[in-house]
Amino acid sequence: MAIDVILGLQWGDEGKGKIVDYLASDYDIVARFQGGPNAGHTLKFDGKKFVLHTIPSGIFRTEQKNLIGNGVVIDPITLSKELDKLRDAGVSFEDRLLVSKKAHLILPTHRLLDAASENAKGKAKIGSTLKGIGPTYMDKTGRNGLRAGDIARTNFMERYLALKEKHLSLLEIYPPVDFDLEAEEARWMESLNELRALQMVEGEYYINEALKAGKKILAEGAQGSMLDIDYGTYPFVTSSNTISAGVCTGLGVAPSQIGEVIGITKAYCTRVGSGPFPTELHDETGERLRAEGGEFGATTGRPRRCGWIDLPQLRYTIMVNGVTQLVMTKIDVLNIFEEISAAVAYKIDGVETQALPYDICDQELQPIFESRKGWEVTLDGITDFDALPKAAKDYIAYIEQQLNVRISMVSTGPEREKLIVR
Ligand code: GDP
Ligand code: IMO
Ligand code: MG
Repeated sequence: MAIDVILGLQWGDEGKGKIVDYLASDYDIVARFQGGPNAGHTLKFDGKKFVLHTIPSGIFRTEQKNLIGNGVVIDPITLSKELDKLRDAGVSFEDRLLVSKKAHLILPTHRLLDAASENAKGKAKIGSTLKGIGPTYMDKTGRNGLRAGDIARTNFMERYLALKEKHLSLLEIYPPVDFDLEAEEARWMESLNELRALQMVEGEYYINEALKAGKKILAEGAQGSMLDIDYGTYPFVTSSNTISAGVCTGLGVAPSQIGEVIGITKAYCTRVGSGPFPTELHDETGERLRAEGGEFGATTGRPRRCGWIDLPQLRYTIMVNGVTQLVMTKIDVLNIFEEISAAVAYKIDGVETQALPYDICDQELQPIFESRKGWEVTLDGITDFDALPKAAKDYIAYIEQQLNVRISMVSTGPEREKLIVR
């Protein structure tokens, strides 16, 4: 059996949580392979809403196992809050949630460093979620980090204190920030008990043995490809490989094991935090997209920047991910627009191009738009492709033709069942 992948093709928040939750019933295992509590994946079903940050979005399906892979960075405090919400909802997870021993831990001082570093950047702020992501991955690659498996070791406290001391010395280069380290540390230590109680596994053996036994596995991405540390809009990116290659390092599987790569795009585009966004709309249309799409961060509550769909950008992320099928979400948000636009190319220094420049941050880049008439009727909750108005079918066909990949699912509302599967 192969391992299928679901990931975001834009700047995150494409609706990955909803689609993973929907598809999870077809799989035996759902596995997160990168990122951490910077993610906020929203699931809506049976009149309830959940936002997951660390736990894979297959947790609400009763039969499926859910693995937090080694590429993920875990903050025990966030994880323990998520577990409390599952308990409150009566969802059992004890035998279904597994943690890879090699996943790195976010310490309170990682969050403190994140805050101090962002604060010191002034106007050059990345707009980090301040969850400690950057400093934790820095300690991972710098070979200083603590891993989930380390909490069972006798020298864990010693190593924790040594790393904390190192962080405190590093903090001296930054102006001070408001952070109650003592209180955060107490919460962190308490939350470790929750992590200890979970099943810790050698994630790479777990996944490869499952594959050998014919189990179906779905890898769930966090963030989006334009936030990838290598291929995103650097330096306005996150600190992990969000693209499909991240599945191999984040779960310990070979490239030959990857099956379908399902790329998700909104019917338009959003970004939260700083950095370039070629099709961003600073006008009333952008405001309408935000209001209609409820575009406020699931993790930080910040308003998301909104704009039209960007086809050269999507062609790029389809290329680096090897996308085999597309999912278009939030098409219902476009119901209210008389006219819908899509960027088909960019103009850089008067020259038209399809390619994203090396440093998109430095370039005066003008998107070239094509516009078409909207449908101006509600699509909310439509589950049958044939029930779509002609203008909506035409829009889907146009995007497919422009991107040369089939759109296999179209989401028409936030709830689990509001989905057209073609
Ligand atoms: P993720 O991080 O990719 O899982 O996405 P988020 O949960 O951060 O943001 C997606 C938002 O859009 C959430 O509020 C979802 O409930 C909502 N959503 C997902 N699919 C649809 C859809 O097809 N239509 C509408 N209107 N909302 C959707
Ligand atoms: P999901 O999984 C949208 C953005 C932040 C910031 C940059 C770096 O819900 O799609 P970090 O905290 O990683 O240091 O922030 O990346 N960012 C996201 N934007 N969705 C996310 O996750 C994001 N995770 C990080 O806003 O610009
Ligand atoms: Mg999100």
